[in-house]
Amino acid sequence: MIFVTHNRHKYEEISKMFSQNGIALRWLNLEYEEIQSESIEKVSLESCRRLSGDVTEDFFLEDSGLLIKHYGNFPGPFSSYVYTTLGTDGILKLMEGIDSRGAEFITVISLFFEGKIFQFTGTVRGKISLEKRGEGGFGYDPIFIPEGFTKTLSELTADEKNTISHRGRAVSKLIEFLKKHNVF
Ligand code: IMP
Repeated sequence: MIFVTHNRHKYEEISKMFSQNGIALRWLNLEYEEIQSESIEKVSLESCRRLSGDVTEDFFLEDSGLLIKHYGNFPGPFSSYVYTTLGTDGILKLMEGIDSRGAEFITVISLFFEGKIFQFTGTVRGKISLEKRGEGGFGYDPIFIPEGFTKTLSELTADEKNTISHRGRAVSKLIEFLKKHNVF
């Protein structure tokens, strides 16, 4: 199975889960253009559809986003742009003085398998922390505290993050599908 991503962190998280399940994963380190849409599902689907013309084997990719409730689920599909412009410091500034800090992460995997596209979604609810904490993970991890935890995602081990994260949950569904279809 091939995973198309330009993001080393995503590859490392997902390949850990694949190897724990005995499924071989190959990394196709490719940067591709994404469509603009208010739906992460659509962005993921359209990227998969476009790449299916170029990648000759079955593959999957994923699109993720951070949804902050107070700001109407911003930045959502614009999470990457907001990360490079505002960053985690900018998000903390936007949240200054705001008590309702609820947020969610979502990952939508699109799998191109035997000529068809299948999608697998994972989410994790939580809140935006008051300050950055932790060294692990990437992106918004230092400012996101998952529900039921006091630590940020950055303070969790890779295995702990995979067990509860948006990506981990989406990947579990993908792995279940692949096992059912005898892909090893
Ligand atoms: P994309 O899926 O690469 O478009 O990700 C959108 C943005 O969300 C990027 O800036 C990533 O750094 C960030 N992001 C994606 N996944 C995670 C995660 O698991 N934790 C924290 N930030 C993430």
